[in-house]
This record gives sequence, structure tokens and C-alpha cells, in this order.
Amino acid sequence: MLKISGRAQLSGHVPIGGAKNSTLAVMAACLLSSDGCRLRNVPAIDDVDSMVQILTSLGIKIKADGSTLDIDTKHIGQSYVSYDLVSQMRASFFVIGPLLARMGVARVPLPGGCAIGARPVDLHVRGLQAMGADVHIDRGVVQAYTRQPGGRLKGAKIYLDYPSVGATETLMMAATLADGETILENVAQEPEVVDLANFCRAMGAKIRGAGTKTITIDGVQRLHTTDYSIIPDRIEAGTFMIAAAITKSIITLSPVIPDHLIAVIAKLQEVGVRVIEEAPNRLRVEGNHHYRGTDIETLPYPGFPTDMQAQMMALLTLSEGNSVVKETVFENRLQHVAELCRMGANIRLKGNIAVVTGVPNLSGAPVMATDLRASAALVLAGLAAEGETQLRGLQHLDRGYDQIEQKLRNLGANLTRVSESTLEQI
Ligand code: EPZ
Repeated sequence: MLKISGRAQLSGHVPIGGAKNSTLAVMAACLLSSDGCRLRNVPAIDDVDSMVQILTSLGIKIKADGSTLDIDTKHIGQSYVSYDLVSQMRASFFVIGPLLARMGVARVPLPGGCAIGARPVDLHVRGLQAMGADVHIDRGVVQAYTRQPGGRLKGAKIYLDYPSVGATETLMMAATLADGETILENVAQEPEVVDLANFCRAMGAKIRGAGTKTITIDGVQRLHTTDYSIIPDRIEAGTFMIAAAITKSIITLSPVIPDHLIAVIAKLQEVGVRVIEEAPNRLRVEGNHHYRGTDIETLPYPGFPTDMQAQMMALLTLSEGNSVVKETVFENRLQHVAELCRMGANIRLKGNIAVVTGVPNLSGAPVMATDLRASAALVLAGLAAEGETQLRGLQHLDRGYDQIEQKLRNLGANLTRVSESTLEQI
């Protein structure tokens, strides 16, 4: 359990780590080359540990030195990922594209749903089939084989019904070693997709258009080693920006790429937060004593990111007037509403729309995290609330944030992680 003392006042500078959602895809992409790769600026989070386990289970050797990973992909011992690993983290499904492209075969269990939604992978499967793979689902396992001689996929023109980040990444990775040209249309434009494309290009892949609606990949025979640094995590940055706003504090944060946060910065400024670009990769955030509500609709990038919806809602509970929050990306990503209401927030839920009416204060309470970003939102609410908040379900928080408590304590917040069994401080 995490005990959070309210009415925190923050100050100082917070370092931002490497992007979780880029790291996980890039680690999968290492499988595309037998030369191995070095990755830098990798965050120390549970999801990365899970991906290390998954690659290791395939026979890959990984050496970690701080935030640097040396990944030796010379030998892939097997092309089957076990269910218990995949069920721990859905992103492990991202290995299917690289495995299939490299080995001609991949057997990856269907990732179950999770708290925020059913999380189907039909777009991944249909795209691989369009590239000539024989893909079928047998007892919960996606079995994929290439039919081409020598086990290669063939280039194809694929239109994604929805700009799915994962499907874009799976198909882009698979296409790097396919025969001929692949054109992916209506793709995701998230910065993490661009980072993955840049990583594959650093290994010798021929990819154009990442960050736009259409990505073109010319398949090559093989990819080579590279030494690559992951981009800063825009969602971690956004989370700390809201920590400053909700506690009416002033902090700076770096490294950050402001271009990756245009929608978040715009919404924070609309509410009344001052955001100043102090240097090319450094932001200064100045909280205010009064905020006005605003409307949020989550959309694929460059729209407002669904991964910032819960954190922004925490701030809106203390912003004057009514704010309409519409979650359009996932079908069940509003579970933090009930927990915020336990802290005194005034939120009415109607399907995928939450109407938040600002209140003068929140009050600390025992609350339960349901998913990664909901847990972050509850930490933020606890920092602003009167009294102490006790947050349970910390396994969600630890999946995606690297030492968030330590970073908040370094800014002046008072948080203590207590082991429930012994109720002593750890
Ligand atoms: C990635 O998930 C991120 N995870 C998520 O971050 C993020 O919220 C999401 O993209 C949207 O930005 C990683 O990168 C590891 P999607 P992903 O495929 O790829 C539907 C976090 O908090 N869909 O873009 O799974 C799907 O159901 C996590 O860091 C299909 O219908 O997201 C959803 O409604 C949470 N069929 C929508 O698309 C498919 O084949 C967006 O999903 C694939 C997706």
C-alpha cells in the first residue's frame, strides 16, 4: 500500500526516463537481426522485466547495466511464447511479427483482455495474413507460418480499420524482412511508432513515412546490429506536469520532447496551467491557484492521448465548472472515476463519457488502483487531497513508472510504501 500525504507542495527538477511503449516494441524488434543490439535509456519498470523474460524464454541472452541493455539475438531456441508470460503483459504479443519475419514461424498465445478493454489483435492477424502468412488460432494460441519458400513474408498493401499502435508496429516490423514493398495505410502516428521505425532504420531497414498516415517499407535480406537510445517517455512527463498543476507547484522536467506533448500542453494551458519551454528538451510547469474546466476527447495521436486521460481527469476534479471527458480509444478506461469519487470528486458517468464538476477540495481516502494510468491518477489526486490517501493495487503502478515515489519525494512530496502484511515501512 502507498500512503500519500495530501496538500503536497512540490519544487525542483524531475528527470524523465525512456518511453515504456517505445522500449517494449524496440526490444521485440531486436529479434529481426541475429547480430544483437544495444539499447540505452531503458526504463527500470516491471513491463521491461516481463519483456526480458519473454525474450530470454526464446533463447535470447540479455545483459542489463543500469538503463543499458545488451541483447544477444544470435540464437533463437524456440518460436513459442508461453501463456503465463503473455498473460502478464499484453505487449509480449509484439514478438509475433519479428519472430515470423526472422524464423518463418511464430506461436504466441492470444493476449487476454485487461482492465481497460478486450484488446483484440484481429488487425495484427489480418495484416500478417495479407503478407502471405498462414495464421490461425488454435486453443488460444496464434499459430503463424510463412508459406513462401525460405520462410519469407511477401510485401502487401494493407489498410488498418483503426490506427492501432500495436498492429502498426507488428506489421512494420514484419515488413522489414519481407520480399518486396509493403504499404501500410491508416496507421498509428504515435511518437513510439516513429521511434521504432528509427530503430529499425538504424538496423538497415528501409522505412518511409513513420509519423504520417502511410508507412512504406521495402523489405531487405537482413538487418544488422545497432546501438540505440530510446526517446523520453511523454506519458511520464505528462504525469509529472499534472503533479505540478494539481499541487499548484512549480517544477521543471527534462529530457522531454515538447512536440510529443502538444495536445497535453494545450489542454493544460486551457485549464490555466503555465507551461514554458525553457530549453529544447526542458519544460517548466507553473501551477495556478485556480483552474477552469475544459473538455477532453481521447484520440489516436496527435489527438489527446488515452494514456493521459485518467491523470487529466484528476486535475479536472478540482477545476471550476463542468468538464466532459470522452474516452474513445478503449471501451473500459474510466474505472478511476469511482475511486476519484471516493475522494470527494463529483463525476457522473454515462457510457464512455464522464462529466466532471469541479469541487474545491478532494479528501484523502483508501482507494484501489485498477490499471496503470488509473493508479497514476490516484497518486496525483492523493497529492492534492486533504489528509492521507492509501493506494492499493501498486502492481499496476510499478508496471509503467520508474521510481515514481522516489521522484515525487525528491520534489518534496510525502509518500510511504507500506507492506500490508507487516504494516511496517519498507
Ligand atoms: C498501445 O497499446 C500502448 N501500449 C497503450 O499504452 C496505449 O494506450 C495504446 O497503444 C493507444 O495509444 C503499448 O504500446 C505497449 P491499440 P495497443 O492497438 O497497441 C483496438 C499504457 O498505459 N484494436 O492502438 O494495444 C483496441 O481494442 C498502455 O502505457 C483492435 O480492435 O493499442 C483499442 O480499442 C495502455 N484490433 C484500439 O484499437 C487490433 O488488432 C487501440 O488499441 C488492435 C487494436
